[in-house]
Amino acid sequence: MTYQTFPGEGPGHSDSISKLKALGFPGRMDGLSYLDIGCNEGFFCFEAKKRGAAVSVGVDTYAPYIDNARERGQRYNLDVDFRVGDIFDVEGQFDYILVASVLHYIKEPILFFRKVFSLLNPNGTLLLEVGVTDNDRDLTRVFRDDTDYVYPSLKFLAKNWLRDFDVNLFGESVPQVGDPVNRKVFHCHKIQSVYLAPPSASALSAISQVEGQRIDADQYFLPAVPRSLARVPEQQKEIFKAGDKFDGDVVLAFKSIAHDRSIVNYVVDVLNEAVRFQGGSKHTFVEGRIVPFISEQLSARLKPSEGFRVFRMATCDAEGSIQIGQTGAIDVQNTADVRADIEKFGAQAWAERYLLQNRTPNRALFERITKQKAYWLGPIDVPVADLIPMSGPGRKYHEDQAEWDRRADQIAKAVNSPDDIPPSIAFVRDEEDGSRKLVLADGAHRHEAFSRRGFKTMPVLLWFDNEALYMSYQARIAA
Ligand SMILES: C[S@@+](CC[C@H](N)C(=O)[O-])C[C@H]1O[C@@H](n2cnc3c(N)ncnc32)[C@H](O)[C@@H]1O
Repeated sequence: MTYQTFPGEGPGHSDSISKLKALGFPGRMDGLSYLDIGCNEGFFCFEAKKRGAAVSVGVDTYAPYIDNARERGQRYNLDVDFRVGDIFDVEGQFDYILVASVLHYIKEPILFFRKVFSLLNPNGTLLLEVGVTDNDRDLTRVFRDDTDYVYPSLKFLAKNWLRDFDVNLFGESVPQVGDPVNRKVFHCHKIQSVYLAPPSASALSAISQVEGQRIDADQYFLPAVPRSLARVPEQQKEIFKAGDKFDGDVVLAFKSIAHDRSIVNYVVDVLNEAVRFQGGSKHTFVEGRIVPFISEQLSARLKPSEGFRVFRMATCDAEGSIQIGQTGAIDVQNTADVRADIEKFGAQAWAERYLLQNRTPNRALFERITKQKAYWLGPIDVPVADLIPMSGPGRKYHEDQAEWDRRADQIAKAVNSPDDIPPSIAFVRDEEDGSRKLVLADGAHRHEAFSRRGFKTMPVLLWFDNEALYMSYQARIAA
């Protein structure tokens, strides 16, 4: 009996036709590329081809399956590229990658998913069907057919093996006789965060704590090794000339050519290509004296629909000095950038990312906002005096007091206006006297810095775990 079930051939072990639906296999794949890891006799590769895929590649380590698959391909007159091998034998980029009922055979899942990440187009989809446990253990060993198989818990799968992906549970898969754990289907997309950062000491020290790919933007324009000028584009020649004129000072060089649209387009093209060429890890840092007009245009090029999430960290002004916040990685986003992110990804997504990727991650609040449904309002400007911080002078310190004070001082020096840094996060608390106060769950240093600077208001994102309260504040703010 075959493993897969082919129409008109009687049942195989797996009900492949029902599995098509359970996988959420796309109705059409016109012109797209499809890769099937552990393709067996090719059932899904043929389906991809029938749905219009321009390229359909199937790999399986077991040669007799591939022989049968090729023979079927000829019989059905469907052009599928079948290969004996595993994922590490494949190169290229694919719009869809299917990994169905295969993961329990994979001995090095971390390397496996890194490879999947590199093979998936930025806007591609990984269709993953896998047995997951619902117990508290990260991994569970199951002895079956004289072999040990290891199954992950849902949480472990998402947070560890699939950490580079945005993971969406699509649904239950088709159960099969002898399944030791339930199979589920996930649709996963690549997340590639791109941080545009000038080489400020604070930005660099913050990003050095995050694993990722670094792109030296300056070197793309003023390379260390001279090239033949005859072979470089006109715009690059202009950049060289400007670089020479300003003794290699990239900011002044760019400032002097900023009026030339063709040069700006060229710079943005080169950086856009660099990200697509050299990026490829979850976090990509483009470092260099990226002046704001380049940063803006580059952000527009790296589209969310392609899986890019761009964070413009502190940008240089035309004179090369850092314009906004010097306090750490994402906390150098300003309120306007945060508003734009919230519009694109939603407040929940922004808050989750901010709380974890901040230089001093606020895991406690992250746990709270992800455990139950959270409702968000804002950012809105709230009087500094109306906010209750949870640490700082007269309160508890969650870190060394001198360090706490130093950070507050650093922020106070770095901000020029309340909107220079990201909003704080606050929630509503009912006091014993019947009044209601806004409590800062994140942003005590900022609050202290604002008080020291004499700012009257501060931008705050409000979160609620209670729909009624959220509605009443929404009405209040609207009024
Ligand atoms: C249970 S079958 C699933 C087949 C198919 N994906 C489906 O869902 O109908 C597992 C397949 O994975 C193949 N396989 C096992 N380890 C593999 C590996 N490391 N790389 C590629 N294929 C593998 C097996 O030969 C077998 O054909």
